[in-house]
Formats: sequence, structure tokens, C-alpha cells
Amino acid sequence: MAMPKQVKIVEVGPRDGLQNEPGDINPTLRIDLVNRLTEAGLPAIEVGSFVSPKWVPQMANTDQVIAGITQREGVSYSVLTPNLKGFDAAMEANCKEVAVFAAASEGFSQKNINCSIKESLERFEPVMAAAELNKIPVRGYVSCVATCPYEGAVLPEAVATVANTLTEMGCYEVSLGDTTGAGTPAVMLEMLEAVCRLVPVERLAAHCHDTYGQALANIFAMLQSGVSVVDSSVAGLGGCPYAKGATGNVATEDVLYMLNDLNIETGVNFDALLETGRYISTVLKRENQSRVSRALAAKH
Ligand code: HMG
Ligand code: MG
Repeated sequence: MAMPKQVKIVEVGPRDGLQNEPGDINPTLRIDLVNRLTEAGLPAIEVGSFVSPKWVPQMANTDQVIAGITQREGVSYSVLTPNLKGFDAAMEANCKEVAVFAAASEGFSQKNINCSIKESLERFEPVMAAAELNKIPVRGYVSCVATCPYEGAVLPEAVATVANTLTEMGCYEVSLGDTTGAGTPAVMLEMLEAVCRLVPVERLAAHCHDTYGQALANIFAMLQSGVSVVDSSVAGLGGCPYAKGATGNVATEDVLYMLNDLNIETGVNFDALLETGRYISTVLKRENQSRVSRALAAKH
């Protein structure tokens, strides 16, 4: 299949990235990052989560972040909501888009949201109903689409079943999360084929963590199979610096470098994005995980 002419990049750095960063992840820093990403032309930015601050302290006070950012017309600013309590808080904060997140493996579901896959989907039902009432678009996530840190290989059919349920519940898009970053193009394509038997490819997104260095290859393979939405994180934010080998999402700079060369339209300004990645890496005192950014810096 031909490559898509246009790709929507969903920037998840302020959420998936910062939720895993140590140090003082305060609202001022988070607002600044989101504003810079808006300026760089990102069409969709995941701003934060309304989850338990005991579980993910970095995402506390997401209401302050939403209130503090400068929202650009036409840009989607979304937040994660694991249950009705989170959804209500998101509405209170005046959020215009939310995301629910399930897993394809029981082990990860229990560790991440403290319930089974079935229970998580039941918790989403009142969220979906309230979202419909409030005319709020809901994105869905499936984690562990390739492997699970607790159970190993995950069956493609298990991913397809959860993705299909989320779609039937009303999610406008389902993001397929390679949480461990252990997926390879062969694994991801087999998984995608199974999902596409139940869910149209237009409604799917690739969400690749880069732990094993496979993310760009996986994204390229998925683009060739018709996926046209890619999640990524500026400077490859995320991962735990104290857990050997763990990394964040694929860097947005690296995705954009590849897409630009393929003449795929994204609307994102490369130089402004590079600058944003360098800025946040400096502020967080971490090595920029974008290979493209590092290569270009080394040249100058
Ligand atoms: P629980 O303990 O089972 O929930 O946690 P509970 O209903 O029994 O409540 C326990 C406490 O949490 C209570 O407070 C509730 O009020 C509070 P307490 O009485 O102890 O003071 N609570 C909440 N507080 C704020 N916001 C809420 C909320 N709900 C309950 N919405 C829960 C269940 C889901 C809340 C918990 O497990 C949690 O917050 N987990 C965090 C999950 C998370 O954020 N994970 C990271 C994001 S997912 C991800 O990164 C994967 C993704 O990137 C895709 C991929 O890469 O695969 C999306
Ligand atoms: Mg993720």
C-alpha cells in the first residue's frame, strides 16, 4: 500500500514523557512545554492525566496546566481519564478531549490501573456516556500490543478484541501502544493485521516506545499498512533513568525527520520542534533522546 500523504502527529511528551521523568515536574514547566509545542505546530497534544496523584505524582495539578496553556484554534489538547472521577475532573477543568486506556494483557492492566481488562472497560462505560452527553471526543489506548512486562508475548487477537471493544464503545481513534518497545515490524504487522480485521485502519494510531530501538521501523511498517496517526514524544521524553534500558516514546524529531523526507505533510515546524526538544532536555538536565537532534548538534 502507498504511504499516506498526511500524518497526524499526536505529541504525548507532556503526558507520557513527563509522567516518567524524575525531579520537579511542576505546572509552570508543563505549561511552558505545551505552549512551545503549540508554537511548533503540533496538531494534537496530550497535556496530562486526571489519575491518582499517589500513583503518578508528576501529573498532579493537570487542571492548572489546562488553565495556564494558550490554546490554539484547531489544536486538540487531551487528557487521560481512567474513570468517571477523572472525567468529571477533566470537565471541571474545561478539557475538550479525553482518552481512556486499557491493556491487552491482564498483568499490565492490574499493575497500571489496579483492575482486570473487563473491569477497566466497565469503568469506561459511564465515561463514554458522560462524554457523549458533553460532546467530548474520546480517544482509546490499548497497551502492551506486542509484549507485556509481566506476561511476555501478547496474542494479536487479544489486542484486536480490546481495540474493537473501545471502538464499539465510541472511541473515535484507538492508539496501539507498544508499551515495552520490544515489538518488531514483524510482530507489529501481525498485530495490526488482526486489529484491522475488526477496526478500520483509518481509526488506528501507532504508539511506539523506543526501548529496543525498533520504533521508527515499526512506524514505517505501519504507515505502509495505512496507519496515518503517530504518537511521539519531543526529545524522546520518558522512561526511567534508574531502570537500565528503559526509554520513552520515539522522539517526535526523529519521526518528523523521516516523514519530511517521505514528503508526508504534518504541519509541524522542524526547527521549532528541535528547539523545543533542546529546551526541555536542558531544563530537565537529561540527554536529548532524539538521534536526529543529537546528530545535527554534533555537526555544528
Ligand atoms: P484504585 O486505587 O484502584 O482506585 O486506582 P480507587 O477507585 O480504589 O481509588 C483509590 C484512591 O484514588 C482514592 O483516593 C480515589 O479518590 C483516588 P484516596 O481515598 O485513597 O485518597 N482516585 C483518583 N484520584 C484522582 N483522579 C482519579 C482517581 N480515581 C481514583 N481519576 C486508578 C485506580 C486508575 C485511579 C489508579 O490505578 C491510577 O491512577 N493509575 C495511574 C495509571 C496511569 O496514569 N498510568 C500511566 C498512564 S497509561 C500509559 O502510560 C500507557 C500509554 O502511554 C500507552 C502505552 O504506552 O502503552 C497510554
Ligand atoms: Mg505510552
